Amino acid sequence: MLDLAYKLTRPLLFSMDPEDAHERVLALGGSCPGVLGALGSAKPDPTLATEVSGLSLPSPVGLAAGLDKNGSAILLWEKFGFGFMELGTVTPRPQPGNQRPRVHRLVEDKGLVNWMGFPSDGAEAIFQRLSTLRDKGSWPSIPVGFNLGKNKDTPQEDAPLDYALAAGRLAPLADFFVINVSSPNTPGLRELQGADALAAILEAVLQHARDRPVWVKLSPDLHEDAIHEAVRRVIAEGAGGIVATNTTVSRPTEASQEFDQGGLSGEPLFPIAHQKVMAVLAAAGDVPVIGVGGINSPERARAMMNSGCKAVEVFTGMIFSGPGLVARLNRGLAS
Ligand code: FNR
Repeated sequence: MLDLAYKLTRPLLFSMDPEDAHERVLALGGSCPGVLGALGSAKPDPTLATEVSGLSLPSPVGLAAGLDKNGSAILLWEKFGFGFMELGTVTPRPQPGNQRPRVHRLVEDKGLVNWMGFPSDGAEAIFQRLSTLRDKGSWPSIPVGFNLGKNKDTPQEDAPLDYALAAGRLAPLADFFVINVSSPNTPGLRELQGADALAAILEAVLQHARDRPVWVKLSPDLHEDAIHEAVRRVIAEGAGGIVATNTTVSRPTEASQEFDQGGLSGEPLFPIAHQKVMAVLAAAGDVPVIGVGGINSPERARAMMNSGCKAVEVFTGMIFSGPGLVARLNRGLAS
């Protein structure tokens, strides 16, 4: 039912600007999650239940950051069969992000290029809205994580404070946090993946995270040596998991070469992300790795899990295949 509904609505959605289409779907999903959910309520098979960083996940398939930046549709995601969600990126103060249009579809590639630049309602507004929901008893039954970023106008040396402020504000609602130092669209952000800079941010977040697990999200454009160094250091400093990877600034396809800014996601990212995930796994020991990047089929989800990932996340695959993808991934992983 969900697949059919998506097949029918996709042409309309794809005739619109990608971000406008996305916002309309989120608004519908936020105001009446039952309507979209009823099209295909998809409970994961009980055998998929797993534990990652002490969190109980009904499925290892999670919602990747960026899809629900402000927590606009938090009740929708478990209806599609997700086992956990990563909201955000949330910045401590509200900011508009880059000028639109800033998201482009590469239909043939099944990819997206975006340079959104962390548009965010800010930690305070998100906290107020979501805590009102929770007080009314409307809260997901799957773990809710917040992906954290810095404001564009915060100087690099003050970055740890930005991450700590957002973590401290959202900690009462959070099951886990993800430190995002890997988006290509905030100037200088990815420099914070250097082991010392990253360790300082992690230390600041851990102080405000009220013992919630803190994961770190890395870029697929890091060299393997840098990955090993960053992973070993953050694990030594107390990171509870590594999310790999974010979008890439590389341009492996002809269509993607039309864009000289932004991060590429979706199908062309998969081989790049998978290779870097293997490098992360080699350095991460027992610390869980969450694989993300171009997962749009059960085979790809299984490839990440068979390599050693404890969970996976999806974003772009759902834009091209629809939310029925989550149930297909769950079925594929269960079988
Ligand atoms: C993203 N992604 C992202 N990641 C993040 O850590 N914070 C963010 O705010 C965003 N925003 C965002 C917006 C858009 C439009 C896209 C397409 C992606 C990256 C995302 O979480 C994921 O790491 C990559 O997209 C790779 O996974 P997929 O999309 O290939 O499944």
